[in-house]
Amino acid sequence: MPIRAVSTPNIALIKYWGNRNEELRLPAADSLSMTLDQPTVEVVVSQSERFSARSFEKNDTERPLSVKENARLERHFLLAKKYLDNIGVAGAFPASASVEIRSNIPKGIGLASSAAVFSALAEAYGGFVNNLSRRDISILARLGSGSASRSVFGGFSAFVVGEGEELGSAYAEQIAPVGHWKLWDVIIVPSQEEKKTGSTEGHALARTSSLFEARLRDVPRRQKECIEAIREKDFGKLQKVAEEDCLDMHAVMMSSTPPLRYLNDETHRIVRDIEELRTREHLAVLYTMDAGPTVHLVCEESALPAVQAFAHAQKGCIMFEAGIGGGSRRVWPSYQQSHLWHLYK
Ligand code: DP6
Repeated sequence: MPIRAVSTPNIALIKYWGNRNEELRLPAADSLSMTLDQPTVEVVVSQSERFSARSFEKNDTERPLSVKENARLERHFLLAKKYLDNIGVAGAFPASASVEIRSNIPKGIGLASSAAVFSALAEAYGGFVNNLSRRDISILARLGSGSASRSVFGGFSAFVVGEGEELGSAYAEQIAPVGHWKLWDVIIVPSQEEKKTGSTEGHALARTSSLFEARLRDVPRRQKECIEAIREKDFGKLQKVAEEDCLDMHAVMMSSTPPLRYLNDETHRIVRDIEELRTREHLAVLYTMDAGPTVHLVCEESALPAVQAFAHAQKGCIMFEAGIGGGSRRVWPSYQQSHLWHLYK
């Protein structure tokens, strides 16, 4: 019986950047994010003789996977199997699998799909085994993409640095559930150019920056402040710590060898303009950027109309909007069946 699962991306407020173990994606520090409610990625996993993966776009056209993408997906499957074996529950887990990925993430909106894809896959793989904990699912997700561990939970979740060098040595946990605080992410995409260095390669360069050690010393304090800000729903505190951390991560990126320049002139202009607007109109809005020029404007509901208007006024930019989501979950019936259901409705 195929297993179907869905998930969504997340936006980091304290950034995950740098690993202590690249192979196992064991992070060098804590991080924290808010899970988005869209766009969704859906996966269907079936038992199979040998591993295969296919990927489809929103309109159901197949997007051929590169050799590298295929290898990453297969390696993730093997690591997931190994982890389930280590904790003694791999009995019912298939020897191999065929994987179908359907992404609703529009091309070029500057939202990476890996967090949604690997958390959905973790959810589906977990479906072959009885009673896995949410922590175990987050570990399975992390084995494919570090930030995917956070999309397993709804609301706000922390990727905990953990200790040791084992497969299960780092995981995510929920900080606050989806209904806790109604925030929005208004996403402004100034450039659709594909980035030259992906996150996986970028993480491996973090230690070449002389600023990285200072970052590692500061993250625990920021993580604590961010958790407090979320629990207390203190937007001012959240804004201060999230922006500080975002700029610090980009300083590390830019001072790496070779330098990683993910932000462009438009990013800097948008950031300056939103700073001005929020001072003028006293808006509860903060900016944050991941490994690309896309600006995420996270705001309280009271600021949403003004932030939307600001985003719409950005010439030549794509705009996208998401609320807070519930995290990855298994869904029944499988995609094929639900597709038929849809026809009969
Ligand atoms: C800048 O989770 O994308 O978005 O494990 O190689 O897939 P991989 O890295 P990834 O790194 C995320 C980097 C970031 C910050 C963040 O989301 O915390």
